[in-house]
Amino acid sequence: MHALLFAFLLGFLKRADASSAERSDHAWGYDGANGPDSWPAICHTGRRQSPIDINPARVAVVNLPQLNFINYDRMGNILLTNNGHTVTTTGYDRWPNPPYIFGGGLDGKYNLVGLHFHWGDYDYQGSEHTFDSLHYPLEAHFVHQKDGLNANQSLLVSNGMAVVSIFFKMGGDGNALRQFEEAFRSSDPYESALNVSNILLTEILPANTLSFYRYDGSLTTPGCNEAVVWTILAEPMSVSEQQLNELREHFSSSERLLHNTRPTQPLNERRVLFRPSMI
Ligand SMILES: *[C@@H]1O[C@H](CO)[C@@H](O)[C@H](O)[C@H]1NC(C)=O
Ligand SMILES: *[C@@H]1O[C@H](CO)[C@@H](O)[C@H](O)[C@H]1NC(C)=O
Ligand SMILES: [Zn+2]
Repeated sequence: MHALLFAFLLGFLKRADASSAERSDHAWGYDGANGPDSWPAICHTGRRQSPIDINPARVAVVNLPQLNFINYDRMGNILLTNNGHTVTTTGYDRWPNPPYIFGGGLDGKYNLVGLHFHWGDYDYQGSEHTFDSLHYPLEAHFVHQKDGLNANQSLLVSNGMAVVSIFFKMGGDGNALRQFEEAFRSSDPYESALNVSNILLTEILPANTLSFYRYDGSLTTPGCNEAVVWTILAEPMSVSEQQLNELREHFSSSERLLHNTRPTQPLNERRVLFRPSMI
């Protein structure tokens, strides 16, 4: 082989190798070469991927029991981290009375392991799920693991995780996220983390948690594990423009994390259930 061609091919192979190693590590993102189109296999071949559009004309009204939020009214301390994909909070499992949910048609008890946010560049985008094809500016995900399973095991069974999603609309007093404001301001740099004390989760929950949408889906980030029972509360909370702008100041490894929303995925053979307030 011609020496020059050989050197060229070798360089090409090395580059290809480096980029695939990055991709399998922390290099996934929401734009360009690292965007959702490049996410690994199941993200594209799966039949129960998330998020989805909730079409209110096509939901099945069901008589599910109410969903119970236990110890969400106890104050506790958390660690808030900018992991380059979102602002995420952890540490709930170490509270003296750890928060958990049960009921609502779930199979037993699910322990809260994290709360994080999805937002967009503009106020007309940001939420991952859409409602009648429209985005809210912000969506919060309360991530729960099935009691008795560890983090790895919960990703391997079809109902290993239960995520409760809350939409935020613009305006109002911004009280729901007030307790995070200072932390949001301080967590702009990539991988910064800080402890926040006296978090009260009921501040983020709507007054009405009786009414919700339910479907079987996946993680909305790689590896897109099809292990999530989704609950989307029908009543939205509110977020201020200033709070949204603070989220948009966060940095991914080298660029501002202006959005972290996966596009909606096909519903396929799934059905979205709706539990009204009064049944
Ligand atoms: C989960 O799997 C990872 C990688 O295989 C391993 O390092 C970790 O210890 C496991 N965690 C638990 C809780 O089993
Ligand atoms: C948060 O608090 C824990 C426990 O008190 C401590 O070990 C950790 O270093 C703190 N982290 C930060 C980023 O301050
Ligand atoms: Zn999420």
